Amino acid sequence: MALGNRLEDKVAIVTGAGTRGEIAGTGQAASILMAREGAKILLCDIDIDRAEETLNVIEKEGGIGKIFVGDVTSEKDCEAMINESIKQFNKLDILFNNVGGPGGGMVTEIDEEDWHRSIDLNIKSAVMGSKYAIPAMEKSGGGCIINVSSIDGTQAGSTRNVPYSISKAAISHLSRIMAVHHGRQNIRVNCVAPGHVYGAFPNRFKKMEEDWRDLRKKAGPLGTEGTAWDVGWAVVYLASDEAKWVTGVVLPVDAGVQAASPLSMWDDLNDSERPQGRSFDKKL
Ligand SMILES: NC(=O)c1ccc[n+]([C@@H]2O[C@H](COP(=O)([O-])OP(=O)(O)OC[C@H]3O[C@@H](n4cnc5c(N)ncnc54)[C@H](O)[C@@H]3O)[C@@H](O)[C@H]2O)c1
Repeated sequence: MALGNRLEDKVAIVTGAGTRGEIAGTGQAASILMAREGAKILLCDIDIDRAEETLNVIEKEGGIGKIFVGDVTSEKDCEAMINESIKQFNKLDILFNNVGGPGGGMVTEIDEEDWHRSIDLNIKSAVMGSKYAIPAMEKSGGGCIINVSSIDGTQAGSTRNVPYSISKAAISHLSRIMAVHHGRQNIRVNCVAPGHVYGAFPNRFKKMEEDWRDLRKKAGPLGTEGTAWDVGWAVVYLASDEAKWVTGVVLPVDAGVQAASPLSMWDDLNDSERPQGRSFDKKL
């Protein structure tokens, strides 16, 4: 694989840089793509084997990476992760706060422990990582942070998952607030909002059934399935100097799902004829 130079001389940390199982996750895909573009990557994961799998790919392709084993829901580990980047590579330019985790139920069903776990995985991890990354980036002359939201952070999702959805909504807003607070330190903060991606995350409990994959494809205006690599390319762009004037943005990577309403997708979602009372074909 030929290496590019869009991230030449940059040092990046990716949290959750490994992947569960055979399907690439967004952390793994973004790590490999950023390394291909010339960045040195600190691969942070709670599980060393998963991080090593990503590192093997990077090194086979001629890229540079190091592993940091830690739990990003712990403030102490987040501080140590940033210190490790300085120790290994002398600076920090990019932080991809990729770790996130599920949290199910309507409000009437929420389990208190599950609630705290979801908030810690989705929000605390990004807050604590950024808390220590920002001073380190300032010393490096600036940098950028990329957080991960979800389509579930904008609209009610296909599963009833209040802790997950509201923590992803919070991450989108956190990204805008941080962009404002740290712009004058030359630190950009953006966010990606993946849609119905076929990646490690939605397959974490059980491999997704084909009919469900098909419905997820049909729900998007493009009618195709996304992968973690599609999200990874968005991360490369936001991390690169090509995005040097872009901050405070929540970028959907979702085949247009967030642009559509359920009725606008009627024909694609249903085999039956659309009721004629409110046809798109009619000028109202
Ligand atoms: N794929 C999708 O459909 C989709 C859609 C919307 C949002 N997302 C978001 O994308 C991210 C998913 O990440 P992924 O695809 O890389 O897969 P993933 O969830 O399988 O996790 C990737 C890695 O994170 C590591 N990890 C888990 N908890 C950790 C912790 N506390 N500290 C350090 N490492 C930890 C795991 O060991 C694993 O190797 C999440 O933030 C998720 O909410 C995904």
